[in-house]
Amino acid sequence: MSNSTFYVTTPIYYVNDKPHIGHAYTTVLADVLARYHRAAGDDVWFLTGTDEHGQKVQKAAEKNGMTPIEQCNSTVVRFQELWKRLGITNDDFIRTTEERHWKIVQAIMQDLYDRDLIYKAEYKGYYCVACERFFTEKDLIDGKLCPDCQREVDTIVESNYFFRMSRYQDWLIQYITEHPDFIQPAFRANETLGFLRKPLEDLCISRPKSRLSWGIELPFDKDYVCYVWFDALINYISAIGYGVDQARFERYWTSCIHLIGKDILTTHSVYWPTMLKAIGLPMPKTIFAHGWWLTGSRKMSKSLGNVVNPMDMADKYGVDAFRYFLLAAMTPGNDASFTEEDFLQRFNTDLANDLGNLLSRVVKLSIKNFGGTLPAPPPLQPLELELLSKAGLAVKQLENELNAMKLDRGINAVMNVVREANKFLERTAPWTLAKEGKTDRLAAVLYTAAQTLEIVSGLLFPIMPEKMTQLRRSLGLSEEEIVKTDFQSLSEFADPSANTKRTMVDMPPLFPRIVVEKAEEAAPAKPEKQKKQEIKAPKAKAVVVPEGMVTIEQFFKTQLRTAKVLEAERIEGKTRLLHLKVDLGNGDVRSLVAGIAQQYAPEDVIGKTIIVVANLMPAKIAGFESCGMLLAAKNETGLKLVTVDGGDAEPGLPVG
Ligand code: MSP
Repeated sequence: MSNSTFYVTTPIYYVNDKPHIGHAYTTVLADVLARYHRAAGDDVWFLTGTDEHGQKVQKAAEKNGMTPIEQCNSTVVRFQELWKRLGITNDDFIRTTEERHWKIVQAIMQDLYDRDLIYKAEYKGYYCVACERFFTEKDLIDGKLCPDCQREVDTIVESNYFFRMSRYQDWLIQYITEHPDFIQPAFRANETLGFLRKPLEDLCISRPKSRLSWGIELPFDKDYVCYVWFDALINYISAIGYGVDQARFERYWTSCIHLIGKDILTTHSVYWPTMLKAIGLPMPKTIFAHGWWLTGSRKMSKSLGNVVNPMDMADKYGVDAFRYFLLAAMTPGNDASFTEEDFLQRFNTDLANDLGNLLSRVVKLSIKNFGGTLPAPPPLQPLELELLSKAGLAVKQLENELNAMKLDRGINAVMNVVREANKFLERTAPWTLAKEGKTDRLAAVLYTAAQTLEIVSGLLFPIMPEKMTQLRRSLGLSEEEIVKTDFQSLSEFADPSANTKRTMVDMPPLFPRIVVEKAEEAAPAKPEKQKKQEIKAPKAKAVVVPEGMVTIEQFFKTQLRTAKVLEAERIEGKTRLLHLKVDLGNGDVRSLVAGIAQQYAPEDVIGKTIIVVANLMPAKIAGFESCGMLLAAKNETGLKLVTVDGGDAEPGLPVG
């Protein structure tokens, strides 16, 4: 990445319904790209927004008893709130109902009409309301179903306006062939070229108001509104000042990367380039089509009831963990499966175990042994140099993968370094070095691990900005250093002679492990609901348990019971131990070895009612079976048995 311009867009989302994981994915991906480019010092512009015209929105408004603009106004906030919640750093948010947009759409239509690139003709076609697309008879499945969503289409005969798209077919084929970066991944370019093998027809770009009134009026015919896709695609240029602020428009336009889902490939890779060509504009740099998030292996859809709500995920597990999962679990371009189980698995492994543990070990050991400020280390040894060099390499790997839009692979390279760093700690055992007073070696090991953490946290910063801020604060970085995450600066921390000074501070666990208690049993299947239940991801009941805490369910896994001491004897050669026979009620008499001989003589304990951990794994102690453990309160000078108030409770009672 160099100091250049970077303009990234998401599709503008329909405001007929609330946002789902597919919307969240594209927007988080765009956000992460924008953040990496900003860190590199690039001039970044990040645009998202909402697609507010068309039949879908008009129908939703009717259903909800609102006017179309009321429908737009009430739904747009759900997107805006979600983006705020997910830490999205868009520079602009465009709504197609804004004047700055519809005026440009009208100006473009007028210009194309004046140049005879838009004409009026009789039209017979098949229209899919759900997809907002027209099809010809040969496109349909069984002559009546939409080829995309397989819903029944409407037959329509009417006069309409057409854009001379067919004129650009040969040009487009040549452009795609000569610009391998234009449509990404490459197999999507091939898909488009496949589509272009059939004759390209002109595009119907109007709807008579008698059928659909919610749209931008054609400037040359008041009885028609503009087709929603023709209107929507223009947002990418109207938002950056096309026709109004030419300098700004030119600054960003040719660096543009459009992130889209694979279902809207044709509109972006055929309609949009031909429109731009007709307008007389250069092409965006790249159109990148990602795959679909599936629930398990099924498509997500409202009717199947398996749509993942991004707001719920963020509320339940935290924004950064959700962002991390979205990007780590999907190879951009391919479909990915979403299940809560996979999410939890990745959370606990990558974030809680690998990254969280590494930080906690390094910070705690540094504070314990050096008050948090590591001394300048002695010359580093091969193991240390190896880890630093791997961390340095990860900077390059992430940069390369990012440029190739393979962010999941970049993340994996970074997490491999985290795992290597944990292995490094196991091998160098700083806790033993501390015990043995090998302060120099200890400093070198902790220094190396801290430098590695500094690099990986910087690399992961755009993905998990909040958590990485906390992590880097804990490493002792100043607020200015925390956000300095360009690849060049980060790779400098891999230099063994960097000699970074820092004072670390402890913090609560970064990613407290999520305890998955138990998969909920599926309710007995009612035949008519059976299908729905099958496709729902099995729900795991997950609770965030801060380190050091237990849930009540976990606590009650330990069975505490009252027990009466029947017999007690000293054990030869063991001054601390007594061998007891205790009665746990219902004929459950057990042998138990307890370290209480220095405080209690055998006769002192016989007849007492004590508390015993009844489900402790049996062990052999000093040659005796010990089936349980008694409870005692301890301090440095001695211990006192925990007994039952009044002392006469029957044995075997549950305690809790
Ligand atoms: N309004 C049009 C886009 C116009 S852009 C000029 C539109 N809107 S949408 O709200 O229906 O969809 C927006 C995006 O969400 C599309 O890129 C679509 O691919 C994506 N997704 C919808 N469901 C999805 C998944 N389950 N997974 C991933 N993305 C999916 O289309």
